[in-house]
Amino acid sequence: MNKITEKISLSEDVVKMVIEAPDIAGKRKAGQFIVLMTDEKGERIPLTIVDSDTEKGTITLIFQIVGKTTACLAEMKEGDSLFAVLGPLGHPTEIESFGTAVCVGGGVGIGVVYPVINALKKAGNKVISIIGARTKDILILEDEIRAVCDELIVTTDDGSYGVHGFVTKVLQDLIDSDQKIDIVFAIGPVPMMKFLCEVTRPYGIKTIVSLNPIMVDATGMCGACRVSVGGETKFTCVDGPEFDGHEVDFELLTSRLRTYIDQEKVAMEDYRCRCDDR
Ligand SMILES: Cc1cc2nc3c(=O)[nH]c(=O)nc-3n(C[C@H](O)[C@H](O)[C@H](O)COP(=O)(O)OP(=O)(O)OC[C@H]3O[C@@H](n4cnc5c(N)ncnc54)[C@H](O)[C@@H]3O)c2cc1C
Ligand code: FES
Repeated sequence: MNKITEKISLSEDVVKMVIEAPDIAGKRKAGQFIVLMTDEKGERIPLTIVDSDTEKGTITLIFQIVGKTTACLAEMKEGDSLFAVLGPLGHPTEIESFGTAVCVGGGVGIGVVYPVINALKKAGNKVISIIGARTKDILILEDEIRAVCDELIVTTDDGSYGVHGFVTKVLQDLIDSDQKIDIVFAIGPVPMMKFLCEVTRPYGIKTIVSLNPIMVDATGMCGACRVSVGGETKFTCVDGPEFDGHEVDFELLTSRLRTYIDQEKVAMEDYRCRCDDR
């Protein structure tokens, strides 16, 4: 059992949670994730470890409420305990002294890219961050990211804050300005990652993406999280979650993410009805 020590709403549907998990806090590295179960009968969902505090023995998660399990997790309160938290899982981000790294985060992906920005800075890189959200009210971690990187550019799709437009446009402008870029990390919704890879591909700029397929066991046994990278099948839970974005088959990832959409809708409706009855 893992106790929730802190819970904060970052926006209407994004929650930050700090959880007691001393073994994971002591071992985790940027890019890794956990799998949690809210209760004994709940499904297992993967969430990235955004931060950790080894003295307090806690890890920080940031998640968006998209379906039944994330809604159920968001209902839990400080002092409640999760049934299980397993991790750290997945390969850590390969951190090197690259030179200049551009880190792009979109939506809740801003939380996922934050530990990568931190690790790149600690390794001596110049880090330019681009973070984007649909609108100002749902932008997360602006201050935290500004505090750790060399330059931060914020975008909103509706122009309510920062640059009006998509993160892809800002990255293209940076490239056009002759800014030296040695590597790009792109984390966010699948279409965002796909289009960012198309921006960098003509210039041969290495682009790492963090994939988010549906996972079941997260041990490389069930095959649920399979993706195609460079024509080869990879299991995201044990081979990833980060891959060379120029090699990823994003169409396959998109269609596999939609496999259970009908069942997910039913589960969410059923969960809402049960909450309304309480
Ligand atoms: C390695 C990894 C790390 C992740 N880290 C984070 C994180 O830090 N924060 C966060 O908010 N989410 C993260 N995700 C996504 C998260 O696991 C899913 O949003 C969650 O499992 C959805 O569960 P649910 O029961 O609430 O929704 P479901 O009922 O399973 O799905 C509801 C809706 O969300 C979509 N969906 C389902 N699974 C995913 C997914 N994996 N990615 C995107 N959309 C999905 C479905 O297509 C559906 O439209 C990560 C996924 C992976 C694989
Ligand atoms: S989740 Fe089962 S193989 Fe990755």
